[in-house]
Order: sequence, then structure tokens, then C-alpha cells
Amino acid sequence: MPITIAMAGKGGTGKTTTSALLLKYLLERGMTPVLAVDADANANLNELLGLTVCSTLGAIRKEIKGDMPPGMSRDQYMEMKIHQALVEETGYDLMVMGQPDGPGCYCAANQYLAMTMDRLAENYRYILVDNEAGMEHLSRMNLRKIDYLLIISDPSSRGILTARRIADITEPLQLEVGKRFMLVNRAPDPVPQALQEKIDHAVTEAGLPLAGIISASNDLINQELQGRSYLQLPSDSPVVRQAYAIFDRILA
Ligand SMILES: Nc1ncnc2c1ncn2[C@@H]1O[C@H](COP(=O)(O)OP(=O)(O)OP(=O)(O)O)[C@@H](O)[C@H]1O
Ligand SMILES: [Mg+2]
Repeated sequence: MPITIAMAGKGGTGKTTTSALLLKYLLERGMTPVLAVDADANANLNELLGLTVCSTLGAIRKEIKGDMPPGMSRDQYMEMKIHQALVEETGYDLMVMGQPDGPGCYCAANQYLAMTMDRLAENYRYILVDNEAGMEHLSRMNLRKIDYLLIISDPSSRGILTARRIADITEPLQLEVGKRFMLVNRAPDPVPQALQEKIDHAVTEAGLPLAGIISASNDLINQELQGRSYLQLPSDSPVVRQAYAIFDRILA
């Protein structure tokens, strides 16, 4: 059974950035193969990884509602389509969910898709899900269980309490969540004492263990500006070191 790690958090807090750093970590530690899932309707994990995406699960769902090519069962057709939509890289594959169906669509197409995704998932050691700000998408993915939910927050008390509420939204989704952690991103470096105290206080109040703090990083901004993959960030970059220390701690 693969280990599933999913991101959550308010818009723009760093879910995609953390996903890319975590993917880099898993690849370098040989914790492969990894299936990276971009579950954001406005997919952009591929950009941080320097990849071009040709098809999405949303597009496949539309296609399988139509006629099958002659001589092919729906299962075979869908399996073929899903493999075409996978971006295959060394140590990992990327799958983009794309645009979701309308709310509450449990049509046959969705069920076929979920079944095929289940079979696909068995091929991986880790499944990494970059999520959008809302959590609804996660419920559509038919994940049996999220082993680690990383809730990303900005470094403010308000942000951390919002993150807590987001963590609560997972409850009614009937998703089994193993461990939840708060990760505070884009903090000033060094973290001023007063801020550290605020973070500690808010995290205690939120009742979520703090995975760690990642500083605001020019390396990330420069890498993005130069259009270079986050996977190519130098390992001595402070942001990479900080992130790896966090992943070591929580995945140990
Ligand atoms: N630690 C950091 N230091 C500097 N810039 C950062 C840091 N983390 C994220 N950013 C920048 O902030 C922006 C938003 O980050 P990111 O896309 O990872 O957030 P997100 O939570 O995935 O957003 P969305 O909700 O839109 O999907 C990006 O331009 C990213 O480069
Ligand atoms: Mg994102």
C-alpha cells in the first residue's frame, strides 16, 4: 500500500512549493517510485517541476462519457488514456486532475476513473497530493486514506487558526487521516522571538503539532524567475535544508 501525503492550506501559503520540495526529498532519499498528483483545478505543480502536461483526468472523464473506439472495452480504453495522461519521469510520475465535475457527480465515468486510479496507485511507494485551497477535491479522488496531511500556513496567528479550520474540514469528508501537521511557511529569517512565541501559542491553541518553519527564500523566487525546476535547487540552499529537516522529522 502506498503512503499518501497531502497538502492543505489557504490560497498562496505554499502548498505547491512544499509539494515540489517534498518530491525532491523523496527522490533524493530513494523513496520511490512516487506518484505526484496535482489536484488543483488551476494546475501549476508541473511548472515548478519544469514539465509540460498534455492531458488531465478531467479531460479523460469527459472522453469516456462518449463512444469507445471499436474493439476496446471501457476499461481498456480508460487504462490507456490514463497512461497517456501520466507524465513519466525518473523516480516519479505526475498526474494532473484538471477541472472537476459539477458538485456531487458520482456518475459511472467517475467511478470507472476512481477504480482505475486505485489500480494505478498500487504501483507507487508514495503518493503526493498537491491540493487547492478547498478540500472538496480530495473527497473526489477516492483516496482510501491520507497518511500525512500537511497544513501549510503563513506565519501569523490568524493564518494558523485558519489552518486549524481547514484541518477540521477534512472531518466530514469521510477521509481517514493518519497524522496532521502544521507547517509555517515564509517566516522571516531568523524568526523573531516574539513571532516564535506567537506561533507556538497559536499552534498549541490549534491543537496541531508543528512540523516546522520554512523561511522566506530568495532561492525559491530566483529559481521560479529563471524558469528552473525546483528539483534542481542546490542541496545546500537554506530552504532545502530546512524543508528536509522537517520531512526527516515527520516521515521518520
Ligand atoms: N518560503 C518561501 N519563500 C519565498 N517565496 C515563497 C515561499 N513559499 C512560497 N513562495 C512563493 O509564494 C507563491 C505562492 O506559493 P505556492 O504556489 O506554493 O502556494 P499555494 O499554496 O500552492 O497557492 P495556491 O493556493 O494558489 O495553489 C509562489 O510564487 C511561491 O514561489
Ligand atoms: Mg498551489
